[in-house]
Amino acid sequence: MSEHNIKTINMYNLGGAFEYIEHNNIDPETEKWERLFNYVEKEVQKDKQKKIVEFGSGCGQLPVMLQKEGYDVTSTDIVDGFLDEQKRRGIKKIKKYNFLTDDFNNVFDSNADLIISWRNPHLDIEDMRKLFEVAYNGLNDDGLFIINFQNSDVHPEAEILSNGTKYNYKILEDKQTKETRFYAYYSKEDINELRKGLFDIIEYHNEGGKEQKIGM
Ligand SMILES: C[S@@+](CC[C@H](N)C(=O)[O-])C[C@H]1O[C@@H](n2cnc3c(N)ncnc32)[C@H](O)[C@@H]1O
Repeated sequence: MSEHNIKTINMYNLGGAFEYIEHNNIDPETEKWERLFNYVEKEVQKDKQKKIVEFGSGCGQLPVMLQKEGYDVTSTDIVDGFLDEQKRRGIKKIKKYNFLTDDFNNVFDSNADLIISWRNPHLDIEDMRKLFEVAYNGLNDDGLFIINFQNSDVHPEAEILSNGTKYNYKILEDKQTKETRFYAYYSKEDINELRKGLFDIIEYHNEGGKEQKIGM
């Protein structure tokens, strides 16, 4: 687990989580979550027996939607503020889980059919490779991993770590928490390297959002 991920988790613990939750309650981005929900439903072919685990669920919007429709979904996070919010929103299966340091098999009763990592830009290339390995080992044989990234193509201002990660440290001026947060950016080629020996890429989407994020 890199110093970058540790710093970002500290930022969430020092008020960042509270602000993230507050922001989500004001602007729930319903349309975006519905699109992701529909995508997930399509990918699991509406099979409610499938075990779904989300890593770093934050406020838990997606697990709430999946649970409501009868899916077997577990939300997770490592920040207590987020876990409390997930509980407050009525999610039944919640695990405190650091996907970079905790043993998947010690935390979950069984492997998953689908693992999702959504909007977790706080991982350098080594943390990201670890995430891919953990997801791979946590999945059943024909399991699926859905992950999104911030697209390095639209971040020419990025600096580069000695391990090759394209990144920025940002202070979000509109937030009270002035702790810096680490954002890493990846290209399609980076993803192709990261998944080697583990996953086949079934689908790849490039969203034309304001930062043209890679993902769905
Ligand atoms: C930008 S938030 C996104 C939350 C949610 N997935 C969403 O899309 O709104 C990133 C989340 O990842 C969590 N996270 C970051 N590093 C983690 C780690 N190593 N283990 C578990 N959760 C982590 C953070 O606490 C935070 O909830």
